[in-house]
Amino acid sequence: MTRKLFVTTALPYANAPFHVGHMMEYIQADIWVRFQRMMGAEVHFVCADDAHGAPIMIAAEKAGLSPQAFVAQIAAGRKQYLDGFHIGFDNWHSTDGPENHVLAQDIYLALRRQGLIAVRAIEQFYDPVKGMFLPDRYIKGECPKCGAKDQYGDSCEVCGAVYTPTELKNPYSTLTGATPVMKSSEHHFFQLSSQRCLDFLQDWTQTPGRLQGEVLNKIREWFATDDEGHVGLADWDISRDAPYFGIRIPDTEDKYFYVWLDAPVGYLASLKNYCDKRGLDYEALMKDPALEQVHFIGKDITYFHTLFWPAMLHFSGRKTPDKVFVHGFITVNGGEKMSKSRGTGISPLKYLELGMNAEWLRYYIAAKLNAKVEDIDFNPDDFVARVNSDLVGKYINIASRAAGFLSKRFAGRLSADIGVEGRTLLDGLRAHRAEVERLYEEREYGKALREIMLLADRVNEYVDQHKPWELAKQAGQDAVLHDVCTVCIEAFRVLTIYLKPVLPALAAQVEGFLKVAPMAFADASRALGAHTIGEYKHLMQRVDPALLDKLFEPPKVELPPPGGEAIAAEIKVDDFAKIDLRIAKILACEAVEGSDKLLRLTLDVGEGKTRNVFSGIKSAYQPEDLVGKFTVMVANLAPRKMKFGVSEGMVLAASHADEKANPGLYVLEPWPGATPGLRVR
Ligand code: 2FM
Ligand code: ZN
Repeated sequence: MTRKLFVTTALPYANAPFHVGHMMEYIQADIWVRFQRMMGAEVHFVCADDAHGAPIMIAAEKAGLSPQAFVAQIAAGRKQYLDGFHIGFDNWHSTDGPENHVLAQDIYLALRRQGLIAVRAIEQFYDPVKGMFLPDRYIKGECPKCGAKDQYGDSCEVCGAVYTPTELKNPYSTLTGATPVMKSSEHHFFQLSSQRCLDFLQDWTQTPGRLQGEVLNKIREWFATDDEGHVGLADWDISRDAPYFGIRIPDTEDKYFYVWLDAPVGYLASLKNYCDKRGLDYEALMKDPALEQVHFIGKDITYFHTLFWPAMLHFSGRKTPDKVFVHGFITVNGGEKMSKSRGTGISPLKYLELGMNAEWLRYYIAAKLNAKVEDIDFNPDDFVARVNSDLVGKYINIASRAAGFLSKRFAGRLSADIGVEGRTLLDGLRAHRAEVERLYEEREYGKALREIMLLADRVNEYVDQHKPWELAKQAGQDAVLHDVCTVCIEAFRVLTIYLKPVLPALAAQVEGFLKVAPMAFADASRALGAHTIGEYKHLMQRVDPALLDKLFEPPKVELPPPGGEAIAAEIKVDDFAKIDLRIAKILACEAVEGSDKLLRLTLDVGEGKTRNVFSGIKSAYQPEDLVGKFTVMVANLAPRKMKFGVSEGMVLAASHADEKANPGLYVLEPWPGATPGLRVR
């Protein structure tokens, strides 16, 4: 029976481009999917942008975009990475897609019908200036233990104390600088503490074969009994108050699902979107008992995927995941923390822009991966060694040593009968097929590649023994040369099949060169026989180690565009004297309601009264950071009536001509000692 698989990777937040950690996960999942397809399975492999939540809403606001436009901009950048690294998702969608709105609301309503949704009021910090409840990450203050300033609401970076945001002294909102107030609002909870949920999850998580051992151990800790003998989980707060970028909770006016409620539903939404586009029946697919649902995720989001998500699915009457495959993180250079100046790890895009072969990275990452929840490390020397000595040195070389003779001396025709020794070698390679398949199935890619390289060693020994380059020079050895080269090409073909999940583009090139249809695992057990192959073209270069140095070079400091901005037309000193520039002290500063560009400044220019000035510097400064500072203003500019009031002057700031392409805004500040009202001349 054909195996049917629904496979996903975690949905990346739509607020940043991919980093190498994303690429590792996609490569891991892509290899597994390609392997399953080569085994004849029907696979639906989907992903999407995780679009919702406060951080994305706030990032969009900072960028002066609607959250939808902001997310769309990030989404538009995805393709170059996915294509570049041969990640073959069948569909890429968004958790803000209409399918997800419907599905998330359906699931919520089903949970409510099950009596598993509770509504109760909770008190939380609220930013009165911004008019929104503050997620913990936007609250800072003084550590309640050591008094260190500017500490986050969960722990102190100075003394290590752990606390809750309400314990901070002098808390402030990092969004506006305002002092947050406690405010109550109703929240919706998924009652994971209920006996029903507990029973279900104990059973679900313990089902053999579903989760990795290390994951099970973690889950046992999460289920641990507390001091009062209470086993289990806390209820999960799944609602957020407006303003929030998310999916509206049915029967409420101003409440949205917490992003982590609708994010995994996005797996289903992307599958549904894909089915609709392909004319497949989504409902029927999901009802098919043969369908296996498989999620590849990183260890940091295990909790959501092994507790919340299965419970949501089960209690809304849906099938639950069959497997959750958890992987560790990828570190770079022994896990050393990358400083800003030395660059932050590997940029996948820079990798491609340097012309580095995507399949080198696929091979290297695969060689490091296993089925455990272990971190893997990218080490540049190791990378060069594995690619050059194993991939190119052992595998590619087999083809390059034999193919030339075949085309020059035998018109590309393979020998139909290769003799006992060659057959024994090839049978030996084929005998490992089941083992290689098992290792891919179990995500033991490192072991699979080691096994394949040992087989390549055998082939190279055979080549070294028979020395086709010498046979080619000896009279009367044509038939032997023909057989030896044929064995090499057959062996190369078998190894290519074994490597194809990892090296899909290379395998496609090989298929072209061998003039064969796309190869599956079963093809490893057949011989090509009397078949004519095409012309060999070199398949893969070695890595030049200098490329790795370039890859790790810190990004260049951003320079102004070539030549910078042209200097304005010449003026006379009298022209300059017309502009009355004065030192001003910023007495007060605040955001302007309804404007995402302006700050309102109250300035002392030494006149015995203050001036009101609107300045378009909001993107660069927090109001509270400007208060008390000195700056320079144009004091004799005609007052300007604006939508928000009259502006009585202009504050000087430096910026690029094209602010969009080159953000960065710097308000001028005089050297110490300058006092309000002094003229700048
Ligand atoms: O941790 C993250 O990057 C999340 N955006 C993953 C979401 S996975 C799924 F639930 F959507
Ligand atoms: Zn402290």
